[in-house]
Amino acid sequence: MEPQGAWREAGPVGGPVAPRVRAVEFVRRMRGASQPCLLRCEDGASYVVKFQNNPQHARVLANEMLASRLAQLVLLPVAAPAFVEVSRQLIRNNLHLAFEVGDRREPVVPGLHFGSRFPGIPSETLVVDFLPDRLLRRVQDLHDVFLGTFVFDKWTCNCDGRQVIFHRPANGDGSAYSVALIDHGFCFNDGDWTFPDSPIRGIYPRRLVYEKVRGLESFEPLLSRIEDLTPGELEACTRGIPPEWCEPDPAPLGRLVETLYDRRRKLRQAIIDTKNCSLSPFPNWE
Ligand SMILES: Nc1ncnc2c1ncn2[C@@H]1O[C@H](COP(=O)(O)OP(=O)(O)OP(=O)(O)O)[C@@H](O)[C@H]1O
Ligand SMILES: [Mg+2]
Repeated sequence: MEPQGAWREAGPVGGPVAPRVRAVEFVRRMRGASQPCLLRCEDGASYVVKFQNNPQHARVLANEMLASRLAQLVLLPVAAPAFVEVSRQLIRNNLHLAFEVGDRREPVVPGLHFGSRFPGIPSETLVVDFLPDRLLRRVQDLHDVFLGTFVFDKWTCNCDGRQVIFHRPANGDGSAYSVALIDHGFCFNDGDWTFPDSPIRGIYPRRLVYEKVRGLESFEPLLSRIEDLTPGELEACTRGIPPEWCEPDPAPLGRLVETLYDRRRKLRQAIIDTKNCSLSPFPNWE
């Protein structure tokens, strides 16, 4: 369901779109090297927000927005992205809207930042980063999501370990968790916008998610969905990304998308290379 009252950034017809929303309340800091914060926004939803002047890289925001939209385009369950506007006044009234850099405190800059939508009302929703195998097995669409995500991470050369959140209603004892993809800040190799491919990259540490792999066909329909994308669909996923998110130079964003288009055709071989690597992540391949 889309948040109410949000105006929508122009996106491709029928393609992924990201709303632009104003932050109205600081909720809490989140863990993480980019020092994100949970902010409640005017649409009533809350977002985990990564800021332009975060301690990692400004391009982390461009990477998050582009990768989230690409994931939406191929129908992976990614946490919904947004452009979150943070005002000078909100920063002035919240000492927490600042980074700790050594013993210095550097305030967040006002402007547009990247938001990843929290799945529900924070006080009523249980969100965890990891689950024991017993609960992991019961996650909705577990195998489809993780096999599709594996292809996606190969395509985007996600240089970080795959991160997801598992969530369910806080009062829903015994109900199965849903999964959502998060943290695409290190896709396209962080601020480098290069693709240092490796067969061992992108393997989720909990191997049970791959136990249904029998061959290349197990990675469908994601594999074909990515292969069938058009240049226009990919290009549309960069719309509205502010140049400040691409510092020091926004120009290579166009080239990055062209490279992604070319890489679609290398995915089958990349999967086979992973199958053959020393970690043998797909023991049931026939
Ligand atoms: N959309 C979301 N909804 C709920 N929680 C989220 C969401 N996005 C991120 N989180 C939580 O915030 C934490 C930090 O997010 P993220 O991993 O994207 O930041 P990071 O700076 O890359 O952190 P790290 O360096 O530890 O990977 C996650 O581990 C997760 O628990
Ligand atoms: Mg992370």
